[in-house]
Amino acid sequence: MFLSTFLCFSADKRKGASLKVVHKYGPCSHLHKNKENAPIVTEILRRDQLRVNSIQSRLRQNSLKESKATTIPANSDRSMGTGNYIVRIGLGTPKKDFTLIFDTGSDFTWTQCQPCFVSCYQQQEPIYDPSLSSTYTNITCSSQQCSQLSSATSAPPRCLTNTCFYGVRYGDSSFSQGFFGSETITLTPSDVFPNFLFGCGENNYGFFGAAGLIGLGRDPLSLFSQTSSKYGNYFSYCLPSTTSASGYLTFGNGGGSSTGSSLQFTPFLSNSKASSLYSIDILGIKVSGQTLSISQTVFKTAGSIIDSGTVITRLPPAAYYALKTAFRDKMKQYPMAQSAGFLDTCYDLSKYNSVKIPPISFLFGGNVELPLDTKGILYPINVSQVCLAFAGNMAASDLAIFGNVQQQTLDVVYDVAGGKLGFGPGGCS
Ligand SMILES: *[C@@H]1O[C@H](CO)[C@@H](O)[C@H](O)[C@H]1NC(C)=O
Ligand SMILES: *[C@@H]1O[C@H](CO)[C@@H](O)[C@H](O)[C@H]1NC(C)=O
Repeated sequence: MFLSTFLCFSADKRKGASLKVVHKYGPCSHLHKNKENAPIVTEILRRDQLRVNSIQSRLRQNSLKESKATTIPANSDRSMGTGNYIVRIGLGTPKKDFTLIFDTGSDFTWTQCQPCFVSCYQQQEPIYDPSLSSTYTNITCSSQQCSQLSSATSAPPRCLTNTCFYGVRYGDSSFSQGFFGSETITLTPSDVFPNFLFGCGENNYGFFGAAGLIGLGRDPLSLFSQTSSKYGNYFSYCLPSTTSASGYLTFGNGGGSSTGSSLQFTPFLSNSKASSLYSIDILGIKVSGQTLSISQTVFKTAGSIIDSGTVITRLPPAAYYALKTAFRDKMKQYPMAQSAGFLDTCYDLSKYNSVKIPPISFLFGGNVELPLDTKGILYPINVSQVCLAFAGNMAASDLAIFGNVQQQTLDVVYDVAGGKLGFGPGGCS
């Protein structure tokens, strides 16, 4: 669990537009030389909670809107500070490569941009400069694209010297502001998209580290939507479980997945309160082969999404209580340790050579039973503190979120055209 090999394995060669996915702070990352920037685990958890709070409050505002049909709140909180997984894509002509966090829980794509007219945070690569690219153009205020910003960023655009100006703010007080532009992006040498709409961020603040963000949500401005005609509304990824391994982000169904036949599919649900998120149907949880007794209404009341940017899976309070009770019972021979932030079921396993972890699987609509990898069950804080990698929501009506610790090593397939999400084992290590 505490392996720290400084090797960088390369991803399998796959068909289609496939990008290598690495941990933001792992040795495969171009960011890893900035080791001092790697947040300690408690800081990752703190930012994760800010992200979840902002997702929940966004949905509460949406239900308010629905029931009262009033105006859109001027400011929405969205948190991003924990984006752990990055890819490199090419931007501009001539092309330069940039490291970007990808996130299925948000929509807008942006990168830091020269001139940084207020401030830019530190990033690994030289900051993108549109004046050095022959394919960058500004979007004008009167264009139809400019008006699309409101839903993609949850904030109305502004107009500066007839150029459309965006602002996107995240729940941990990170933000990016700048000109809305169009540019050529290059995912692979044969996957080049002219006129991709993105944010040229001239004033940015936050803990991003990477050059910016790729939004893979369902909003029309997301990278997913802007490339969907080529890729048929289909993408997949594997999130590596160690910082020294790499996974992939693939656009389109190239038939390249080695585990295609062992994929299990669960339907996407529609949720008008969370229309740009990927809603799924969590039905129950098994611990050591036994289905926990959780009333059917618990997950139905809350609703569920899958999110690549949330770290720890969040469950309705009643479901989490049932899970932790069963888990603690199966682990009662091991000494407990103090809580770590919102993780309240922790153990000191430092004196054991081998530990028997009770298996946990998740039950999804469509008759899917997904056994979790051990790394999706226990989250290491330090050598003498490992914690059950789940947390309960504050309110029964808060959304359940299937997070990235639980998705590690799986092939996760977003077949949006087919209305279904696929899980397969052994996508990466
Ligand atoms: C885009 O608009 C900004 C603000 O008006 C301007 O400073 C910049 O030069 C413009 N870039 C291009 C390529 O037109
Ligand atoms: C592990 O973290 C906890 C706090 O989360 C701390 O109390 C403990 O001293 C740490 N142990 C080690 C060995 O660093």
